[in-house]
Amino acid sequence: MVKSTSENALKNSQQKKSDRSRKRSGKTTGAKVRASVRPAASRNEPARAPVNAVFLVGFMGAGKSSVGRALGLRLNWTFEDMDDRIERREGRTVAEIFRDSGETEFRRAEYNALRHVLDELRHGGTRVVALGGGAFAQRNNAELLTASGVTTLFLDAPVEELWQRCCKQANEAGAERPLLRSKDQFRELHRARHKKYSAASLRVETGGRSIDEIAVEIIQQLGLKKIYIRTEQGEVE
Ligand code: S3P
Repeated sequence: MVKSTSENALKNSQQKKSDRSRKRSGKTTGAKVRASVRPAASRNEPARAPVNAVFLVGFMGAGKSSVGRALGLRLNWTFEDMDDRIERREGRTVAEIFRDSGETEFRRAEYNALRHVLDELRHGGTRVVALGGGAFAQRNNAELLTASGVTTLFLDAPVEELWQRCCKQANEAGAERPLLRSKDQFRELHRARHKKYSAASLRVETGGRSIDEIAVEIIQQLGLKKIYIRTEQGEVE
């Protein structure tokens, strides 16, 4: 259960993270955020088919994994962190891939992992997926997502706040982010990517609200439906 305060949300996700056997790039946020969901790309899109997969995009520290996890819990949808999938497939952490093979190799692994998850979704099921911060900024990934028709959701926040969250996660949870270098580089990367994230189906502006509130707002705005499992004994949430 995701608690209603951002601090608790942060603690929850940090606890889960510390349970992991291998330390990897941080996937938490202490975001106090205000959610305001509005279309990011076309404002006049035709009515869509019911959404069964949501891909969260945005810069490092945007809260993709925390919000994704909260969405998964509320909807009974499978939540998945793409960086975790990459690590499983590659048998090493994101930080190790960057360090030993470089960013190009990481992007290759990221693209292949994305193709794999989209293939799986073609066979049905519901999924909330948190992409890594650079994934949607890569044209091949963005094209793949657009072509597959899944909903992409840009979690936006002021760059200063993103920086603070990443620093906090690095200090408190030991989160490793290979591209978290100097503040100037962080700002520059954010500036270069921001417009690309805006090509997502929807944008969620943040500021002053908890992770859980954001999740609730996304569910309402997208009309996402909770999955109930029916058993012989009755309906189980
Ligand atoms: C990256 C962000 C990371 C991770 C990798 C590259 C990026 O994910 O995928 O270190 O290019 O911004 P988070 O956004 O979850 O930190």
